[in-house]
Amino acid sequence: MRLPGKTVIITGAASGLGRAMALRFAVEGANVVVADVTQTPREGGEPTVDRILRSGGSARYERCDVTSWTDVDRVVSDTVDRYGRLDVMVNNAMITSYDPKPLLETSVEQWERTLAVNLTGAFHGCKRAVQAMREQEVEGEARGRIINLASQLGIVAAPGNCAYGVSKAGVAYLTRQVARDYAKDRIVCNAIAPGKIMTGKGGHAELPHVIAFSESRTPWPRLGLPDDIAAAALFLASDEATFIQGEVLAVDGGWLAS
Ligand SMILES: NC(=O)c1ccc[n+]([C@@H]2O[C@H](COP(=O)([O-])OP(=O)(O)OC[C@H]3O[C@@H](n4cnc5c(N)ncnc54)[C@H](O)[C@@H]3O)[C@@H](O)[C@H]2O)c1
Repeated sequence: MRLPGKTVIITGAASGLGRAMALRFAVEGANVVVADVTQTPREGGEPTVDRILRSGGSARYERCDVTSWTDVDRVVSDTVDRYGRLDVMVNNAMITSYDPKPLLETSVEQWERTLAVNLTGAFHGCKRAVQAMREQEVEGEARGRIINLASQLGIVAAPGNCAYGVSKAGVAYLTRQVARDYAKDRIVCNAIAPGKIMTGKGGHAELPHVIAFSESRTPWPRLGLPDDIAAAALFLASDEATFIQGEVLAVDGGWLAS
């Protein structure tokens, strides 16, 4: 096992990539806290926590809206009280560009809502995790590890999807900022920039023209799977990832390579 006894909070772990990371981390021995506004997977199936518990793993659900500092603060405090420390914080929750729009059609409400979940949510998660991690002893080389979910979109432009792309660019920058400022405290902070990952949630993200565009941008002869992201996150969460700080790791089948 690669995360024996480690405690991990994953925001947005009811569904999609967060769920895949939660399931994988639990198999690797972690205590997983699913911090989400719902337990219902967007793609259907059994709630993440139920599935982990049924397989003999350790998991609990904490209702958490990442736009609320109070919620994030409570989840981190409860987790540290219960398990003794917070080893890994994964800031993954997002709202999709529920109705993606270019700049001129982006309403102030859409802009503010997208930034609130995707960027302010990650800010809350990073800030509260650093507070907790600074109070704990070094294990391996680190006091704790933070993994933020950025995107290939936001590194290159997100066609017609202004608020989402800007939010994800902000997450990549936030990662470098935290990495720079808290390396001295032995807090590791990196990001993953997924390419197109098929989570099965349907909606705009999986419309035929969106998939066709993604295939045209992805040199690797398939689109991504949630387990591709879980494997990369497992590496960054583990003590095997040494001297990697402030990195935004593309897991994108080569989208950003061309
Ligand atoms: N799937 C992809 O192709 C892809 C590509 C690039 C980046 N990403 C990034 O990966 C991450 C996960 O994406 P996904 O496709 O699994 O998303 P998803 O929509 O399947 O899941 C998002 C989860 O976040 C939760 N959530 C929404 N608002 C929340 C809030 N305010 N507080 C707490 N939880 C909230 C949802 O309930 C859901 O469980 C996101 O940060 C996304 O930007 C995904």
